[in-house]
Amino acid sequence: MKIAVITGASSGLGTEYAKAVNKMRQDIDEIWLIARREDKLKEVAALLNKKVRTLKCDITNKDCINEYVSLLKSENAEVKLLINNAGFGKLGYFYEISTEDNAGMIRLNCEALTVMASVTLPFMKENSEIINTCSIASFAPNSRMAVYSSTKAYVMSFSRALRQELKGRKINVLSVCPGPMETEFLSLAGIGKGDSKTFDTLPRDNAQKVAEHSLKASLKKKAVFADHIFYKFYRFASKVLPTSIVMKIAKT
Ligand SMILES: NC(=O)c1ccc[n+]([C@@H]2O[C@H](COP(=O)([O-])OP(=O)(O)OC[C@H]3O[C@@H](n4cnc5c(N)ncnc54)[C@H](OP(=O)(O)O)[C@@H]3O)[C@@H](O)[C@H]2O)c1
Repeated sequence: MKIAVITGASSGLGTEYAKAVNKMRQDIDEIWLIARREDKLKEVAALLNKKVRTLKCDITNKDCINEYVSLLKSENAEVKLLINNAGFGKLGYFYEISTEDNAGMIRLNCEALTVMASVTLPFMKENSEIINTCSIASFAPNSRMAVYSSTKAYVMSFSRALRQELKGRKINVLSVCPGPMETEFLSLAGIGKGDSKTFDTLPRDNAQKVAEHSLKASLKKKAVFADHIFYKFYRFASKVLPTSIVMKIAKT
């Protein structure tokens, strides 16, 4: 039984990943959907025709992770695709954002993503894939998103190093770098119209396209994926320009 595990599957990009895996991946028999809101996971499951298991799990919680690992063991699971997608951000100066939220971003976007990779890897064989949802925020530090952009810089660095380590085992690791998408992320982050000139003007990415196109990029064993031409250019610019200049352009 070949399984795809998707975290943050109850909304936004994670839901689009579930639909895209269901449609595009004939090699996958079963999809495991993970998030805290089980009712939403059930709604997503109802849209899919592959076998689906919903796991109500806060992936920052050790007991939930232990239950997930027990399930992997009891099902003798082979995870063909891990999509580490759950994450959240907050817009605001560092001192305006609560300590709980600043630490929470690190716990979910960095620690939980790392833990999920660590506990799932023993259940992955050759020719498997890990997709880590990163962000254009990983390309340069963003003021008013200091912690969020730092967590995504971690995701990028971790993913690239892990990809190199796992090459010998033929497991690819892809960092997916969306720009702003109209998902719950924006309202949870406090990003509404007028809250940030940069966000008001940045081109929107489409979550369905990001999911489908990044799945193809993963099969092609790419390291980094940005869908929109504007963000491909931004990524290039962030590599060739001094960070201080990129930071001025990218100020949120
Ligand atoms: N939307 C954007 O503009 C944007 C841009 C770049 C990158 N991203 C990244 O894209 C990823 C997906 O975000 P999205 O845009 O799809 O936002 P979203 O709709 O808010 O989705 C976030 C998902 O994470 C889940 N989640 C949150 N905390 C969790 C926890 N402790 N344990 C398990 N699941 C948890 C949420 O489900 P529950 O609440 O049910 O747990 C939800 O399914 C994130 O990593 C985000 O950083 C988003």
